[in-house]
Parts: sequence; structure tokens; C-alpha cells
Amino acid sequence: MPRPRIEVTRLGKSYGPVAALTDVSLTAAPGAVLGVLGHNGAGKTTLIDILATRALPSTGTARVCGFDVTRSGHQVRGRIGLTSQYASVDEAVSGRANLLLLARLLGASRRQATARAEELLDAFGLTEAADRAAGTYSGGMRRRLDLACGLVGRPEVLFLDEPTTGLDPVSRAGLWALVAGLVSHGTTVVLTTQYLEEADRLADEVVVLAGGHVVAAGAPATLKAGIGSRAAAVRMSDERAVRHALGVLAYAGIRATPDPVEPVLRVALARPGDITAVVRALDAAGPDILDLTVTEPTLDDVYLALHHESPRP
Ligand SMILES: Nc1ncnc2c1ncn2[C@@H]1O[C@H](COP(=O)(O)OP(=O)(O)O)[C@@H](O)[C@H]1O
Ligand SMILES: [Mg+2]
Repeated sequence: MPRPRIEVTRLGKSYGPVAALTDVSLTAAPGAVLGVLGHNGAGKTTLIDILATRALPSTGTARVCGFDVTRSGHQVRGRIGLTSQYASVDEAVSGRANLLLLARLLGASRRQATARAEELLDAFGLTEAADRAAGTYSGGMRRRLDLACGLVGRPEVLFLDEPTTGLDPVSRAGLWALVAGLVSHGTTVVLTTQYLEEADRLADEVVVLAGGHVVAAGAPATLKAGIGSRAAAVRMSDERAVRHALGVLAYAGIRATPDPVEPVLRVALARPGDITAVVRALDAAGPDILDLTVTEPTLDDVYLALHHESPRP
């Protein structure tokens, strides 16, 4: 086993009376994606800030690429890239200029900096927009530029703090593909997110934070197995139709749960064929289905399954 790129042991961080992190332990191997999942205020950014040497831990230890973040911050900074919610892109200058400047700051020669900027612009599909001011970029382009900036120094570890929050689905999918590409080059990625689906898609290991504590950790599949599955929400015309549908489904051996407020019933979809069975049973009996949506489990379902109140503000 190679040494983990990230080793966090009993980490704690307080801001005055606020315990932002308590007793957090985790590791991430070379070339692995660690997903840190949690709602606003869970402690995700605090964890990233400590690992990226932007904040000091109050208790415990954290090592990045074998270096202690408190004692060897300089060595850590030379090996990491960071893309935060509030990235340091200069909006007034072009995408290319941002990359050139960063490369020069990191000690590249003019020629090396130019080559690296071209390479990254190309890899992130920004060549055409390279000479436009970054402030004019769309949300998706801007995130791609953020990511490119984080990669200028060819980091061993890349921290992505909520890289897809607020992005449209297409840009989000594009970013996921980029992350997958990075990992294939051996980069370790630590990614924070509020989306279970994102952690599931990208991460090898997931740590769930709530109120600064690790409340669950493991492979995404294990985590999902513990919280159940996708569900179908079937909207009916009225309560009478819901009662009828419940009877019909029960007769077909399908358990459904009525919504306490709306004329909607929910059915867990554990296996691929389950949705067909639901539709077939309802169609045969003829209750009025107004709408049917399939929902993926969310972070709230994870918290619920862990008997943790969702700490959403
Ligand atoms: N600089 C700070 N000063 C005081 N409290 C902070 C500071 N940074 C974060 N906190 C608090 O620590 C907790 C965790 O915040 P944060 O790490 O930003 O969570 P997340 O990134 O998951 O939304 C929150 O209660 C937040 O208000
Ligand atoms: Mg945050």
C-alpha cells in the first residue's frame, strides 16, 4: 500500500465558541477521489482550508503528501491545487492571462508558462474564449477556468470545494468528466459537495459531515445501500384515487406510502424492473395518474437514515 496522500487524525477546529470540526479522521490514497458530503455549515470548507494550509487546526493532525500542514505548510502548498467557492480568478483579465500569471507565480519561465496555459486552455475547451475577460465567461466556463487555475502547478492533490454548486446540469456533467480525467493521471482529488449523486458518481470513498462530525464514511455503494434507493412519486387526481391506487398496488404485492399532504404516493424502487410493475398495476386498474417522477436519494435521505436531523439552515 502506498502512503496516503491525505492523513487526518482526530482533527478539530473551533472559531471561538463554534466547533466547526470535531474529531475528524480520514485518509485518501494516491489517485483516489475523496468525497466530503454535507449541507451548508457542516464543516466542509473548514476541512479544506486546514488541508490547504489556509487555516490552522485547533486539535489533531493533518498530513498532505506526508507533510504536516502546521509545521510544513510550504511543502504542502507546493504540492496542492485549490479551487474554492470563491476562486481567485481575476475577472478583469483574460482566461489566458490568468493562467500565465499563475504559472509565473509558481516559478515557470515565460516559455513554460505559455506552454502550460495553452495546454490547459485546450484541455478545458477554453481556447476560443482564451482572450476574453474572465468576467464575461458563462458559469460553466468560469468553473472550467477555476479548475484549470488549480491545475497549473501539476498538483499531487487537488481540492475542489463545491465545484458544481449552482452549475446547470450540462456544465456539471462536463466537470465530472474533467475530474475523472484528472484521476486517471494519478492526482488525488478531495471534493466537497451537497449532492449525494455527485459523491456517488465521482468518489471512491465518501465522508459525510454533519455539524463538524463525521457521521458516516465508506464507499458510496455501501452508503447508498444503507439509505435505500430511488423512489417513484405518483401524483393522482385526488385522495380517493390515492386510496384506490394503494389497494391496487397492495394487491400486486407493491408497498406504497401516501404523502401526508398531497395526493401523491411513493414507492421505493429497489430493482430495475420495479418501475414497470408499478405502472402496469396502476394502468390495469385505471386510477388517474396525473404525473410520475423518479427521484434519486439525496443527502437528506442520508441524514435521515443516519437518524441525524438534517442541519439545513
Ligand atoms: N472564519 C470563521 N469564523 C467563525 N465561524 C466560522 C468561520 N468559518 C466557518 N465558521 C463556522 O464553522 C461552521 C462550518 O463552516 P464551513 O466549514 O464553512 O461549512 P461548509 O463549508 O460545510 O458550509 C459553520 O458553523 C460556520 O459558521
Ligand atoms: Mg463551504
